[in-house]
Amino acid sequence: MTQDSIKRGGFSSSFGVLAATLGSAVGLGNIWKFPYLTGANGGAGFLLIYVLCTLVVGIPVMIAEITMGRAAKANPITALQRLNPGKAPWWLIGVAGMAAAFLILSFYSEVVAWVFAYVIKAIDGSILSSERQVAENAFGALIGDPVQSLLWQWFVLAFIGGILLLGVTKGIEGLTKRLMPVLFVLLLLLCGVSLSLEKAGDGLAFLLRPDFSKISAGVVLTAMGLAFFKLSLGMGTMMTYGSYFRDDQNIPQTALRVMTADLCVSMLAGIAIFPAVFTFGFEPSAGPALVFMTIPAVFSQIPGGHLLMIVFFVLAAVAATGAMLSLMEVPVVILHERLGMSRPKATLITIACLMLLGSTCALTNSVLSHVKVFGLNLFDLFDFVSSNILLPLGGILLALFAGWVWGADRFNDAISNKGTLSNATTARVVLFLLRYVSPLLILLVMLKGLKVF
Ligand code: PFF
Repeated sequence: MTQDSIKRGGFSSSFGVLAATLGSAVGLGNIWKFPYLTGANGGAGFLLIYVLCTLVVGIPVMIAEITMGRAAKANPITALQRLNPGKAPWWLIGVAGMAAAFLILSFYSEVVAWVFAYVIKAIDGSILSSERQVAENAFGALIGDPVQSLLWQWFVLAFIGGILLLGVTKGIEGLTKRLMPVLFVLLLLLCGVSLSLEKAGDGLAFLLRPDFSKISAGVVLTAMGLAFFKLSLGMGTMMTYGSYFRDDQNIPQTALRVMTADLCVSMLAGIAIFPAVFTFGFEPSAGPALVFMTIPAVFSQIPGGHLLMIVFFVLAAVAATGAMLSLMEVPVVILHERLGMSRPKATLITIACLMLLGSTCALTNSVLSHVKVFGLNLFDLFDFVSSNILLPLGGILLALFAGWVWGADRFNDAISNKGTLSNATTARVVLFLLRYVSPLLILLVMLKGLKVF
């Protein structure tokens, strides 16, 4: 099978494009990572920097990735080779992207495992309590049990692999399209309940009144890493999805919509969680456990909360599934198109590798709790290296490639759908950001955040 003879799929409708791209962006990053990082880094000040990063760095890089992916219609490695007029090995960005995908999937699949386990715990009702101790015990018992952690993670990987093997990407696209609005409604409902809690004001103030004393270079790097992670940028995911975009899709508009909707989901999660944190006496800086402790507490306050909590965790699992599929698509499509493997074989190999690599994250709170690298356990290390180093680095290189190597003419032609859209000003602004602003800013934040200077 040669690379060009492989028949490529694509998204069918304009709404399908939006749903799939949003399906990649919205995931546990919104429901799990965003609230706990905001809590741990001081609240509103962090939120503000995060929003700035999405606007100044996230949007241009997202547009660049999608535009290049669509122009090349190939996996990230091949795409960078096709678009590169010279000989420099820019395709290595695609290789780094594949490495980032494996690292992220290793810890992400474990968090999805917790969500799946919580669906069952929600059903048996054992976690429906606003008692801090009950919440902490339930979560601690899950992550501290090596057998449960591992089995749940492998179940998740097998589940996602099964979906990919069945080749029902369309099915999952259709599913997410229908269920995402339900997640939205449920989050709104949760916000309503949370805002009626006793100390809702404190929670909101924490989320909305900036306190810049907590902001350091490291915190800014975390916010930027989160922006990349949230929007699935810097590792070729959006490039891959871009390769499935229709030729008449308005890319800047789609990117803006995805970013806005994604931010809304994150904000809703924040508004649902922080009033509860303050009312029930949890710690805003509780870390990865935050969502798993506060959400059951909020549901315990309302009639019908038991059922709604089940629905919530099921929907969180669905959101996570959409994001995981997009993450896994990167190595699968690379193995498929570069090495000529069939898609099922590429999927099986990816899953097998992840079962091995991911188990290091599953066992981080039990058998491997003593293993530390640079003071971090393996779960945190994979998260740190991917979000704060690999994704931003990928972002810098992709921005430079789009801005300088691919060239203004080709970029303008692609972003305007061969001149059929009149978006010359947008194109000029995006190109300027890609050439001068985004790479420099990312580099500065990275070097400062990593204490290089
Ligand atoms: N954006 C997803 C989330 O916020 O949960 C996670 C993710 C998906 C990161 C795809 C990176 C990626 F390529």
